[in-house]
Amino acid sequence: MRIISGNTTSLTGTEHLERNVFKKCDKSPKWDSKPRRLLEIEVLLNGFERTYDIFVLPRLRVKMNLQQDIHHGEEEVELFNKNILERLTLPPIEGLLIRPLRSTDYDKGFLQLLAQLTEVGKINKEHFLKIFQRMKNAGIYYIVVIEDLSCAKVIASATLIAEQKFIHNCALRGRLEDVVVNNNYRGKHLGKLLVNIILQLARYLHCYKISLDCRDTLIPFYESLGFKREPNNANSLNIRFSNENTTEQSHL
Ligand SMILES: CC(C)(COP(=O)(O)OP(=O)(O)OC[C@H]1O[C@@H](n2cnc3c(N)ncnc32)[C@H](O)[C@@H]1OP(=O)(O)O)[C@@H](O)C(=O)NCCC(=O)NCCS
Repeated sequence: MRIISGNTTSLTGTEHLERNVFKKCDKSPKWDSKPRRLLEIEVLLNGFERTYDIFVLPRLRVKMNLQQDIHHGEEEVELFNKNILERLTLPPIEGLLIRPLRSTDYDKGFLQLLAQLTEVGKINKEHFLKIFQRMKNAGIYYIVVIEDLSCAKVIASATLIAEQKFIHNCALRGRLEDVVVNNNYRGKHLGKLLVNIILQLARYLHCYKISLDCRDTLIPFYESLGFKREPNNANSLNIRFSNENTTEQSHL
């Protein structure tokens, strides 16, 4: 078992913790001086990520809640750490929640929303969770969604892929993908808001640039958000492979 990420700072006097909770870890967490009540730590165990909630009680007695693997369990897991979004400038919008994609969004209409963008295909919940887990493990996928809390549905989504490079001193290149707003919510500046959040996120992650492919009709939309067609560098070339499993209807 090894710790791969998580808020592992903020405890003192942790001998008991380290001995009893982390005895199987390759690496012990590093602690600093301020105690906190709850730590969420993600670990990689037998190839699967798991989230451990550690409740810090008086006298530093520790109770650990081992959540089930998302392949089998019903617990809610976020695709990336939501604290990152809290560090950005997000306007509060009444009744709407801006957050990372969650493992439970299969039941909140996430795939139906994507179907307004392009062909999605038939994906059952198990398959969705498998792909979700794969994306989470990769650590480069940032799917930001907006949920309408009044109906508990995901009504908008956009994806940042932070592609790791060797070039430019091992820089990250951002790619904006799969921007979609539910057609009942369009024209309310939610698309613009989501793209702006992705831009902030890309800057926060120190991407050296962010690129996208889009239909010609959407060029004004993206230009209004600061994207530019660079002279001599504004081409998108594709080869489409025919694949029975990939029904390309809208040619996105
Ligand atoms: C494109 C899309 C995400 C825009 O979302 P939206 O919430 O309706 O857009 P917004 O309300 O934020 O629009 C912001 C601005 O862009 C303009 N705009 C919106 N859609 C546009 C379009 N298709 N072409 C040109 N301008 C557009 C709006 O008029 C608005 O201008 P304003 O700031 O002057 O008022 C949404 O129409 C959608 O989901 N479309 C289907 C999926 C899709 O094609 N996604 C893009 C894949 S690359």
